[in-house]
Amino acid sequence: MAESITIKILPEGLSVQARPGELLGEVLTRAAVPLNRYCGGRGLCGKCLVRIVSGPLPLLEGDEKALLEARSLTTDHRLSCRYEIRAPATVEILPGSRAAAISVLDAGFCPPLTVDPAVKSFSLEIPSPSLASPRAVLDSLRDALGLPHIVAPLSVVKDIRLPPKNGRFSLTVCLYGENEILDIETGKSEEDLYGLAVDLGTSTVVAELLSLVSGKTLSRAVAPNSQITYGADVVSRLSFSFQNSDNLERLRNSILQLLNGLVSELVAKAAVPRNRICEAVIAANTAMNHILCGVAVDSLALSPFHAVFSRLDPFPASELGLGLHPRAKAYVVPNIKSFIGGDITAGLAASGFAERPGNGLFLDLGTNGEIVLRKGKHLYATSTAAGPAFEGMSLSCGMLAVPGAVQKAGWDDGFDLKTIDGLPAQGLCGTGLVDIVALSLRQGLLGPDGKITAPGRKIVLTKSLSLTQQDIREIQLAVGAVKTGVRMILREFGVSPGRLDEFLIAGAFGSSLDVENAGAVGLIPDVPADAVTFLGNSSLAGARKLLLSAPDRAAAEGVARRIEHVSLASRASFQDEFVGAMTFGR
Ligand code: FES
Repeated sequence: MAESITIKILPEGLSVQARPGELLGEVLTRAAVPLNRYCGGRGLCGKCLVRIVSGPLPLLEGDEKALLEARSLTTDHRLSCRYEIRAPATVEILPGSRAAAISVLDAGFCPPLTVDPAVKSFSLEIPSPSLASPRAVLDSLRDALGLPHIVAPLSVVKDIRLPPKNGRFSLTVCLYGENEILDIETGKSEEDLYGLAVDLGTSTVVAELLSLVSGKTLSRAVAPNSQITYGADVVSRLSFSFQNSDNLERLRNSILQLLNGLVSELVAKAAVPRNRICEAVIAANTAMNHILCGVAVDSLALSPFHAVFSRLDPFPASELGLGLHPRAKAYVVPNIKSFIGGDITAGLAASGFAERPGNGLFLDLGTNGEIVLRKGKHLYATSTAAGPAFEGMSLSCGMLAVPGAVQKAGWDDGFDLKTIDGLPAQGLCGTGLVDIVALSLRQGLLGPDGKITAPGRKIVLTKSLSLTQQDIREIQLAVGAVKTGVRMILREFGVSPGRLDEFLIAGAFGSSLDVENAGAVGLIPDVPADAVTFLGNSSLAGARKLLLSAPDRAAAEGVARRIEHVSLASRASFQDEFVGAMTFGR
């Protein structure tokens, strides 16, 4: 039997067994210690730091040494993704390395909702069979529904309870569209019908439980995407999936467990049985929806870069492994061609963007900057790889928008930082980052070319928080990518920023992005101030809308089909544009 080594984890006081040579990061993941692993264990992000309280401390070298020195950390600090287990050790998880529970719930811009879902329940009375009319229960039911050809799966028929011998009896029938019976119950229970709306984001997953009768949201739950353990961004997760034939399933299982956990939380909060949830609508980017469905992602990462599906017909949620009603359906919001995901289709549906006249631009700021331009009746979409900086992930002091993250900043003879929940500042999330870069430009701490001019070549925020030249470089890349995409698509279709009737911003920044600072940095072009609207989590708002309305779902599918995809990154001029756009400012 292989030797096993005991690792003690503080402050939990947990003891776990590890194999010699195993990486500490993997042991901690196995022990369900929630650790930030933004780079997927590649030793790049420096977020998985631990302190070795006792145990071997081999000599530091290479990137790890540089990273610890840059942060002035003592040599008993180690990256858990680099620390090989050779002997028993006690390790302390540092507070900043622990993946925080997300308490910031951004429900997204909430459009007026029509309740006309794909799943409906009807209570009916049908005559009991008699000697004079010994009709089969299912035939009577089909007549009562006026749907003679509706399909009833055998599992439904097996559940039909025998009716009383005389008179009439009541049943509740749950239908999916006009084609399929999902359930038949004795008695009246048409009010007990629920659905799940999910925004499956690269960084964060938000789920809502809704009544499919009233349309009300009954509970909401949120968690960091558990796949962060395998990489902060889509590219890292795709490359993880290539490393080993089991890795796609590992990614899938990770997100499935998370979703089932969120469902448990939702039903407990709302006191609703989970087997009453009859449909889940999931809005996600192309990579996330392929992974959730267990569909190969190789083609997304390898030339000629294409998706396996853009649209799927609704299918049994049990095929995903979601623990809902046994015959519940899952609907994955369709992607727009290969690279623009269902999260954008959902956002467009929530905002009604495609239906309005005039010129408009919809910008989703996440790890990808997705851009949809409306010019009259025409819709064009493109995406640019902004990277995870806006979600705080590729920066030495970046973090998700969780308590303790700097969310806003002002200047009062120095930086005046506002954190989420007023906790001591632990790091910067996207909106705080934009404020700080804009303030640094104004205060002359940073040049438009991105060179830090502040003493020590650092923008010092607090004793333990500062932006380095490398951080600024990451931000320049993110801003430059978005700016290039917006500039190029506007130019391509002959729309000047000043002629945009609306400029909608969805995604990571929620509604707390400062428009003036975003303009100063270069994220927002010179558009009329009243044209800018923040949508927040429009992907969730769209999933909610498409759960509650089958007609809106059909309309969203039509919009996804008619959008023309423009591949800007393949243009010869893209690189020059991108280099030019790295300069801060409009
Ligand atoms: S440095 Fe260890 S997970 Fe990124």
